[in-house]
Amino acid sequence: MSTNSTISKDSSRLENILIIGNGGRENALAWAIQKNDLVKKVYLIPGNAGSERINKCERLKIDINNKKEFVEKLDLLKIDLIVIGPEIPLANGLADFLRKKDFKVFGPGKDGAKLEYSKSWAKEFMQDANIPTANFWKVNSLEEAKKIIYSKSIPLIVKADGLASGKGVFIPESKDECFAAAKLIFDGKFGNSGNMIVFEEKIEGPEVSVFALCDGKKYILLPTAQDHKRLNDNDKGPNTGGMGAYSPAPLLTEDYLDRVIKEIIDPTIVELNKKNIDYRGVIYFGLMLTKFGPKVIEYNCRFGDPECQTIMPLMDKNFVFLLEKCSMGKLTGDEKIETFDKVSGCVIATSKGYPHEYKTGLPIKIGKLDPSDCQIFDSGTSLSKNGELLTDGGRVLSIVCQDKDFDLVFQKAYKNLKEINFDGIYFRNDIGHQVRKSFSKEN
Ligand code: AMP
Ligand code: GLY
Repeated sequence: MSTNSTISKDSSRLENILIIGNGGRENALAWAIQKNDLVKKVYLIPGNAGSERINKCERLKIDINNKKEFVEKLDLLKIDLIVIGPEIPLANGLADFLRKKDFKVFGPGKDGAKLEYSKSWAKEFMQDANIPTANFWKVNSLEEAKKIIYSKSIPLIVKADGLASGKGVFIPESKDECFAAAKLIFDGKFGNSGNMIVFEEKIEGPEVSVFALCDGKKYILLPTAQDHKRLNDNDKGPNTGGMGAYSPAPLLTEDYLDRVIKEIIDPTIVELNKKNIDYRGVIYFGLMLTKFGPKVIEYNCRFGDPECQTIMPLMDKNFVFLLEKCSMGKLTGDEKIETFDKVSGCVIATSKGYPHEYKTGLPIKIGKLDPSDCQIFDSGTSLSKNGELLTDGGRVLSIVCQDKDFDLVFQKAYKNLKEINFDGIYFRNDIGHQVRKSFSKEN
């Protein structure tokens, strides 16, 4: 081991942090991490054009697949903690690789990431641990799929087993639509991710997201959140990665959350341990609150986007310590996060056409913003040769505001959104409608 790496892996240092990923989620993490005075520099690989507007942040052009060059650079930069944002590098075992090189890493290994990258495995995991979730049937061929579809009398949801960037879930209206979805998956629409299909019983109820920072044995919960997955107002239109969110979600009262902890979160941690999975990262519980109680819709092995952008401004300057403690297996489980009695909301501005085809490279103009308790976390932006901010993704920007209540939060968010312009800008007008008292009057 080089001298550099010995210094960089000193467990008491937190000067140089590296974040892997390029979305609004990673920018929000960077923003929360840099708040701590011990942190001198936050590097992002690759980040996006918004990353370097954040205090202490710098983007690095490094190919993480060139492992030798990657590790040499991390040693040179004396990286003290690595946070892996997206599911794909986690599913590919990047956290395992970096831990073997002695880095402190926030993010599960390949074994833990399986909670997200194999839906059938996650369903069996829940079955083993008696965790409430929708009934399911897994199949490996269209023949088997046909048998399930035409023998069940209940509505079914169709899911490609593997990762599909949030596009592998179908909610068919009829048996024929259900069969068409299964055929699409087995015909290779999602490559190897569609080698297996999971059919699920369709369950009903509002959805909430719960995030547990986990050190392998202990965990602490972040404020809860509610995402808005559909493209259009009134929850119409196609599913997207997420059009906005708010936090905390009042639907999860303290009592209900206690129930979720007992029936879902604690058994998940126990089962991970039973399976010898040392999970050091965030577990995202996508829950549906049904009339029979809370049920897990899905696990993710990463922070949700845009829930992360929404929650990060509620974190105090000690957030980076929580990530570090998780990476070292040193949580006490009693850590408290000071949220300053504020609530937070996020609205996503997208390119015209998202979640289908859209153009990129369109200039973004930002007027006069009300900056108090308001952040813009770029989701998909780039810079032109002359330094002009351009659109570079389906989801372009996340506007996030905090205030005493959700009415004030979303008033500020929508006022600021009026100051942002690019050709074809689109956003939902009803984000947070569930928690805006004045919503019906506004509309
Ligand atoms: P997922 O990618 O698994 O979160 O699924 C995307 C969306 O599909 C969820 O947020 C739910 O709205 C819906 N969904 C997934 N599974 C079910 C289910 N078993 N019953 C009803 N809706 C579901
Ligand atoms: N917001 C949902 C997700 O990140 O999958």
